[in-house]
Amino acid sequence: MGKAPSLGSDMVFLDLEDACAPKEKVAARGKVVEAIKTHDWADKVLCVRINDWSTKWTAYDIMEVVGNAGERLDEIMLPKVENAAQIQATDMLLRQVEIAAGLPIGHIGIEAQIETTRGLINVEEICGASPRLETIIFGPADFAASMEIPVLTGGVQIPDYPGDHFHYVFSKILMAGRANGIQVIDGPYLYIRDSNGFRDYCKRTRTLGFDGKWALHPDQVAILNEVFSPTQEQFDKAYDILDAYRKATEDEGKGAVMFGDEMIDEASRKMATKFLSRGERAGLKRSPA
Ligand code: GLV
Ligand code: MG
Repeated sequence: MGKAPSLGSDMVFLDLEDACAPKEKVAARGKVVEAIKTHDWADKVLCVRINDWSTKWTAYDIMEVVGNAGERLDEIMLPKVENAAQIQATDMLLRQVEIAAGLPIGHIGIEAQIETTRGLINVEEICGASPRLETIIFGPADFAASMEIPVLTGGVQIPDYPGDHFHYVFSKILMAGRANGIQVIDGPYLYIRDSNGFRDYCKRTRTLGFDGKWALHPDQVAILNEVFSPTQEQFDKAYDILDAYRKATEDEGKGAVMFGDEMIDEASRKMATKFLSRGERAGLKRSPA
């Protein structure tokens, strides 16, 4: 927790779920509250992962953590989400706790983890279940367990499978998230010392269009930022496309024009805009002409 503010990550979450021993669940709430209130979290998006609705802890996690430390908290993460009703129940409880704690209604956002077969089947209704929902996250370890994939480590490649055994899963979650205008994030890579494998795995979801991925260890953060940020070349090209397209549409009244060897149109503008916003968030500046 001490290291968190100085890491290059965009967000940090404190875990009351699977990284927290069952015997510690109740006592951990107070420690999380204390940490939220006393640590300097700088400009990090701050989140707490609570326990899922099949346990006896979910409502009490929300009441204690949001009720006592809701002001600095940005979001809660709900694991093993199976249907829209679980998001709606979380939303309603948050509303009450916010009112009781004197927080603005809607102050706390929700991140939902898709990591069970039922959750994946219902991911479309889940992604549209509440305006509080900011992010959908794939949880490969629990998902491998839920699918009964014969592996002992989830979220790594399976060399025996010809292709990416998670391709359908990634695409389904990505489409559901994009259709509802929320962020789409890939979960953990468990071999924390294997930076080459990690980089390779990051590229899979980055290439499909995911917004980011979890880091389990500080060393993974730099790789993530590199893989999920546009290169300088892509950033400059995006600027050039936008300039060329603006000139064509505004000065010359054309809808489609040539840009080097390729034709560009409104779809090109939309693609380039995304590179620009991601690059700016990563601190890139346009190269001098
Ligand atoms: C994360 O929670 C996972 O199960 O992969
Ligand atoms: Mg999990």
